[in-house]
Amino acid sequence: MKRKALITGITGQDGSYLSEFLLSKGYEVHGLIRRASTFNTQRLSHLFIDPHISNARLFLHYGDLSDSGQLTNLIYNIEPEEIYHLGAQSHVRVSFDMPEYTADITALGTTRLLEAIRRSGIKTKFYQASSSEMFGSTSPPQSEKTPFHPRSPYAAAKVYAYWMTINYREGYNMYACNGILFNHESPRRGETFVTKKITRAVAHIISGKQKVLYLGNLDASRDWGFAPEFVECQWLMLQRDEPDDYVIGTGESHTVREFVEHAFNHGSIELEWKGKGLDLVGVIKSIEASAQATNSLKVGDEVITIDPRYFRPAEVDHLLADYSKAKKQLQWEPRVTFKELVEIMVDSDLEAVGLESTGRGQDILKDKNINWTDNKVAKGYI
Ligand code: NAP
Ligand code: GDD
Repeated sequence: MKRKALITGITGQDGSYLSEFLLSKGYEVHGLIRRASTFNTQRLSHLFIDPHISNARLFLHYGDLSDSGQLTNLIYNIEPEEIYHLGAQSHVRVSFDMPEYTADITALGTTRLLEAIRRSGIKTKFYQASSSEMFGSTSPPQSEKTPFHPRSPYAAAKVYAYWMTINYREGYNMYACNGILFNHESPRRGETFVTKKITRAVAHIISGKQKVLYLGNLDASRDWGFAPEFVECQWLMLQRDEPDDYVIGTGESHTVREFVEHAFNHGSIELEWKGKGLDLVGVIKSIEASAQATNSLKVGDEVITIDPRYFRPAEVDHLLADYSKAKKQLQWEPRVTFKELVEIMVDSDLEAVGLESTGRGQDILKDKNINWTDNKVAKGYI
């Protein structure tokens, strides 16, 4: 019998990779999608086949994390062996503008799902997408034992959801795990998160679609990993005999400024910084002829400017994972380094605007044998 999984947030970055991963393992995958007036399933379109066809294994169901009746209905009728709860209002900056909505979806959404499992009486394993944002201002490195100090409505909502997951594990003997994942990125990352915003801007500036990249705080440090590797851990956590909580990250941390510099470098542009504070600008110091030609870019052009709109009322300064528990118990280690991640993302964005990439991104995936779906279901760039 095929194992069945239900994924909330299936249309997001992680949801799409996890779907590929589970399909490649023979699962029947069910996903919760929101009704929208435009298509929100672009990240899944290469996986979807008409559900009327007999070998279809991916099924999408309308629902919303605010609608407990539909969550109970889906769990009761699908009877999934595993539930991956990835759905959330996941943008930290946006959570300051919409704190109540963020609490409703990101915090209470988890309670609604846990209650739906309990009330439906279905025996299932539950994965909660917890976040390194929960550590907030506590000093790095952060492990499962590090206290939380959330610095945003998003992080506070995730802390609540984290404890509700543990509460249902302890109170109702439910198989429920928290994956405390540090930032993970990919060519499929949402375009308003800083990594994708930067790599997309590199391609757009070189191709002439964009003049300047506006950014906020360049001094924050993040432990950035490669998303396809991280979704494997979500699955690994649910394959153990006993439920537990795990930190997942790379153990390497870099500033936003370093990300910017390396991304532009990989696009053949060397930057230098001039000015301070709100007057800080990133200027082209040198440029290879290939990049220059497409947009008449020249030395001295200002391509980065600070826009305070992207500052947060409270910032998380430094995240760095101590993932030794996952390494030992899940036998998991990241393979893609920070620089390689940047190169994969820049190459993919260059190719997306029709420019030639260095090919290094694809080489990294080949060298590291990151081909976990065997390319049977994933077309195009990973
Ligand atoms: P993402 O790309 O922003 O995807 C979020 C998903 O949640 C989308 O499928 C979205 O649907 C869905 N969603 C939002 N509101 C919903 C609602 N009211 N009802 C149902 N679904 C809703 O996020 P991600 O990067 O894949 O992250 C997956 C999860 O891991 C999130 O919970 C995030 O908070 C957490 N996390 C992420 C990271 C990271 O670095 N990526 C690190 C730690 C934890 P639409 O497509 O319709 O918007
Ligand atoms: N988004 C964004 N846009 N961030 C910027 C910008 C900008 O223009 N300029 C600087 N930053 C800084 C932010 O202030 C933050 O310190 C850092 O870049 C990373 O921001 P994001 O990419 O938005 O990610 P995040 O770290 O706030 O949150 C992501 O990672 C969390 C795990 O630690 C999200 O994926 C969360 O859902 C996830 O839980």
